[in-house]
Amino acid sequence: MVRSLIMAAHPFYRSPITAPLLPHPHYRTTKERYSVFQQLKQLAPDSILETLAKYRADSSPNKIDLGVGVYRDLSGNTPILTSVRRAEKEVLELQSTKSYVAAAGREEFNTSVEELVLGAAHAARSGRRARTVQTPGGCGALRVGAELIRASAPGVTVHVSDPTWGNHTPLLGSSGLRLARYPYYDASAHRLRFDAMLEHLDGAAEGDVILIHACCHNPTGADLEPAQWRTVTQLLKRRRLVPFLDLAYQGFAVDLDADAAPVRLVAEEVPEALIAVSFSKNLGLYRERVGALITIAESPSRADAVLSQVLQIARSIYSMPPDHGAAIAARIFAEPSLKAEWIAELTAMRARIADMRVLLARELCKTTGNAAFDFIRTQHGMFSLLGVSPQTVERLREEHHIYMLPDSRMNVAGLMPQNARYVAECVAAEVSRATG
Ligand SMILES: Cc1ncc(COP(=O)(O)O)c(C=O)c1O
Repeated sequence: MVRSLIMAAHPFYRSPITAPLLPHPHYRTTKERYSVFQQLKQLAPDSILETLAKYRADSSPNKIDLGVGVYRDLSGNTPILTSVRRAEKEVLELQSTKSYVAAAGREEFNTSVEELVLGAAHAARSGRRARTVQTPGGCGALRVGAELIRASAPGVTVHVSDPTWGNHTPLLGSSGLRLARYPYYDASAHRLRFDAMLEHLDGAAEGDVILIHACCHNPTGADLEPAQWRTVTQLLKRRRLVPFLDLAYQGFAVDLDADAAPVRLVAEEVPEALIAVSFSKNLGLYRERVGALITIAESPSRADAVLSQVLQIARSIYSMPPDHGAAIAARIFAEPSLKAEWIAELTAMRARIADMRVLLARELCKTTGNAAFDFIRTQHGMFSLLGVSPQTVERLREEHHIYMLPDSRMNVAGLMPQNARYVAECVAAEVSRATG
C-alpha cells in the first residue's frame, strides 16, 4: 500500500493497467534497428584463451601447456591445498546461514589480510590510515580501485609497466581512466629498464597513479631489487605520485614477508596508496574469487571517507563479494595449525617453481651452448618472457606442441622434470633456425 502511494506520487509513474501505451521516442519499426544486440561484432578471444583453445584441440600426447597462468604440481594438476580442504570442512560445519555478508566482506578476513600484507605493526595501521575491503579476486580489487581513482581524480593518468599483465589494460581502462606505459623490461636483453623507468616516472604529472607489480612481475618474472624499490619509493614521494601496488603472488618469490616488503616500504613512506591483493595463486583459490583492496589515506578521517566511497562503488558493481573462499582464507589465517600447513604448502609450490627454473636454465645452457637463457634461473614467480619472436612461438606450438603466449610468456610451473630437456632442445633448435 505504502509502495503504491509513493509510486503514484512519482511524476513518471504510470499504472500498468491505465496508462496509454505510447511509443518510445527512440522506437524503430524495422527489426534491425530495434534490436539491442544487432550492432555487436564478434570479438576475437584474448591471447590466453586462444592459446588454451589451441592446446585443447591438439591431439598430440606429448603436448606441453606453458600458456595458462595457473600453478601445476608434478602430476600436472592445479591441486586443492590440504590446508584449504581442512579449512573448508570446518567452514561448512560451522556455517549456520547463507545470508548476505556486507559490501566490505568479512571483517576478520580484512583484518588478517592487512596483517599479512602490511605486517601487524605497520605505521599505516597504528595510525588508523589503512582500510581494507574484501573483493572478488585481485581483478575485483583492481577494478574497484580504478573506479575509486576515477571518482576522486578523473583527470589523472594511470601508468602501467611495459609490458604488463594483459588484463590490466581492460580492468583499469574500462573505468575511463587514461593509461600510459612506463618502460620496465627489455625482452631481448632480458633485463629491467630501470633508468628509463625512473626517467618516465620523473616526468609523470603530480597526482598520477603508478601501478607496480609488488613481486613476481607478470609476464616477465623480473622484479625490482630492494635498493631499486627504495629509489622508486623516494621518487614517488618527491614527485607526489600515488602508488597502486598489485600483489597477486605473495609467497611465490621468496616468502610471505619478503614478498610484501616493497608494499610495506612504500606504504610507510607515501601519504596515499592503493593495494590490490589476490589469493588466487598462493591459496590456490582461483575460482572462489578471493581478494582485497587496501587503501591508505593521509588521515583517519580521509581513510573513512575513502572507505565509504569504496563501499558505494562495490555496491554499484557487484553489491557484495562472494563469501565461501574468503571464509576459508580467514579460517586459515586465524588458526595456527592451518596457517602453518598453508605456509608449508606455499613453500613447496615456490620450491617446485624454483627447481623448474634451475632445470630449464641448465638444459637451455646445454642445448644452446651458451648462458643466454640464464635469466630464467634468477627470476621470480611463475612467468618468464622467453624473448623470442611470435613466429618462433608459433613454430614451437605447430612443430613441437609446446604452448606459450604469443609474446613468449611461459608459465614455468607448467614444466615437468621429464619434459624440461625436450622443451630446451626445441627452443634451442628454433632459436638457431631463426637466427641462422
Ligand atoms: C599481475 C596480476 N594481478 C592480478 C591478478 C588477479 O587475479 P585474480 O583476479 O584471479 O585474483 C592476476 C592473475 O593472474 C595477475 O597475474
